Amino acid sequence: MIGILDSGVGGLSVLREIHTLLPGHSLTYIGDSAWCPYGTKSYSEIQSRVFMLSDWLLAQGAEMIVVACNSATIAAIRTLRNRYDIPFIGMEPGVKPAAEITRSKTIGVLATGASLSGEKFRQLVETHTPGLKVITQPCPRFVQLVEAGTLSGPDVTDAILEYTHDMVQAGADTLILGCTHYSFLKNTIAETLPDHIRLIDTGPAVARRVSGHHPSKDADPQIHLHTTGPVSELKRLLPLLCPTLTASCHPFPLS
Ligand code: DGL
Repeated sequence: MIGILDSGVGGLSVLREIHTLLPGHSLTYIGDSAWCPYGTKSYSEIQSRVFMLSDWLLAQGAEMIVVACNSATIAAIRTLRNRYDIPFIGMEPGVKPAAEITRSKTIGVLATGASLSGEKFRQLVETHTPGLKVITQPCPRFVQLVEAGTLSGPDVTDAILEYTHDMVQAGADTLILGCTHYSFLKNTIAETLPDHIRLIDTGPAVARRVSGHHPSKDADPQIHLHTTGPVSELKRLLPLLCPTLTASCHPFPLS
């Protein structure tokens, strides 16, 4: 079984990519919605939550864990890899692919405050964007909107216009969705912004990395979703976020 974790429902955008690529594999997901957002928390707070969730996924039989959260990856991936014997796959804002396709030499990065302030992010920018202009923007309202299941409408459009204003004005033609929650707003972002602006989402690349580890197949693959928040809310959100996904929803047994 492949374990997947996130601060809430955002990591479901990665789960659906993994399921599309590896439909014969069982997936167990844990969304820490009771503690969402991670993006405004300290690294030590994020680490202690992620250790607890990883211990639980391991106890359920996870052979690898996908940290489907950029903020948790930045805060904890190195420590997780030292602490556990199984592979941990993390998220990374798509700075490299954005740098490869920008023509205006200006890139916008939409991500959480926790991701943008990390040393790992600074190194990514330093390595891949010499000669390019990189404009960053935390988008906390995007996370609230997705956790509420609001993927379009005036509140979403207002938030998109506010958060992208400076980068669009500066001529950015490539915007990175550097948080797994933001992927659920991709269509609305694309409809709201000028047509020439391209969006980079790293969910499919992460699914390919998972596949590269050759996880074991299951004769009867199941998808189990757990939440530290109200399970009724997860059941309400699932058809909005992943309309074609068949999965069972459960409360997280620890807190
Ligand atoms: N989904 C998370 C990420 O990719 C963060 C959302 C949050 O909890 O702030 O960074």
